[in-house]
Amino acid sequence: MKILVTGAAGYIGGTFAFEALKKGYKVFGLDNFSNSTDFVPSILSRKFKKNWVFTELDLVHHKAETIEFFNQAKPDVVIHFAGLKAVGESEIQPIWYWENNLISSINLLKCMKATGVKKLVFSSSATVYGDAKQQPITETQPTKSLSSYGSTKIAIEQLIYDACKSKNMNAVCLRYFNPVGAHEENIIFESPLGEPNNLMPRIVRVGLGIDKKIKIFGHDYSTSDKTAERDYIHISDLVDGHFAGVQYLAKMSGCHSVNLGTGKPTSVLELINAFQQHNNIEIPFEFCNRRLGDVETCYANPTLAESLLGWRAKYGLDLMCKSAWGAVKKNGL
Ligand code: WQD
Repeated sequence: MKILVTGAAGYIGGTFAFEALKKGYKVFGLDNFSNSTDFVPSILSRKFKKNWVFTELDLVHHKAETIEFFNQAKPDVVIHFAGLKAVGESEIQPIWYWENNLISSINLLKCMKATGVKKLVFSSSATVYGDAKQQPITETQPTKSLSSYGSTKIAIEQLIYDACKSKNMNAVCLRYFNPVGAHEENIIFESPLGEPNNLMPRIVRVGLGIDKKIKIFGHDYSTSDKTAERDYIHISDLVDGHFAGVQYLAKMSGCHSVNLGTGKPTSVLELINAFQQHNNIEIPFEFCNRRLGDVETCYANPTLAESLLGWRAKYGLDLMCKSAWGAVKKNGL
């Protein structure tokens, strides 16, 4: 099988590409390096010469080149990871987020139609649910995002749904909860360098001594320890969910949105404590005001993924914390 991966230089796209190559698939990757470097593509070129083809491409601006790449690849399925994904940043630069995420997806679907590619797995997000009143969250709950980032994901899901209705393609939209950790070879990981928005790389920065302590945004939520709860999912579970989505596409028609989460809520304090315990390292913290756009609780009801895709998360907080720290140490940070 030939798989085309957009956003293949990123943390999630790169991890998926690595695992697909290990499984023996032929993988064609593209990325515009707006939020990544050539680090992952060059590692994959060294390890998987025969089955890995990568090109630097921007789905918004390089329409002709994308068609050419598709004609070269003739993929059986496309996995669309490419997109801007920082909730806070999307509030500061909404037009950039809308142009990048929506136009790139429209161009991708036009390219798939023009080259006869009919199967798509889309990287969606739990942010489509906004501040969901009913927890755990099921796919039938209304989608109404609090952030521009989440609103682009809702719009792209609708675009894909309409493209499937017109029989041009079939698709699975995977709604990620909070991806963390690193795959077992610890080669690809979520970098703590620069200015990461997410909690786990911020914890890692404190472990490395880059930051003195972690700021906990909000200590007045109505949760057991008053800090916000999320559904953290190991990147390897998330990637396995994509392979389950690809298998499902072989026997379905239409468009389905599916949660990828563990079904377990974990608070900020609980994650920090788990990181300290499993890595035997102290992570000082201080309580600060809530962060704009944050919701109190967000965790998945994962039963549809199990019934439809035959998938459920296997890994716990111990491996999430150990692999997040192990990958950074193994790569000399
Ligand atoms: C988690 C919790 C913060 C940093 C997720 C994904 C994101 C996108 C949208 C996929 C929150 C708290 C964080 C810090 C903290 N998903 N926090 N101090 O906001 O749930 O976003 O959904 O498409 O990629 O990560 O994740 O890791 O930013 O925050 O207290 O320094 O940690 O307030 O409660 P979030 P996050």
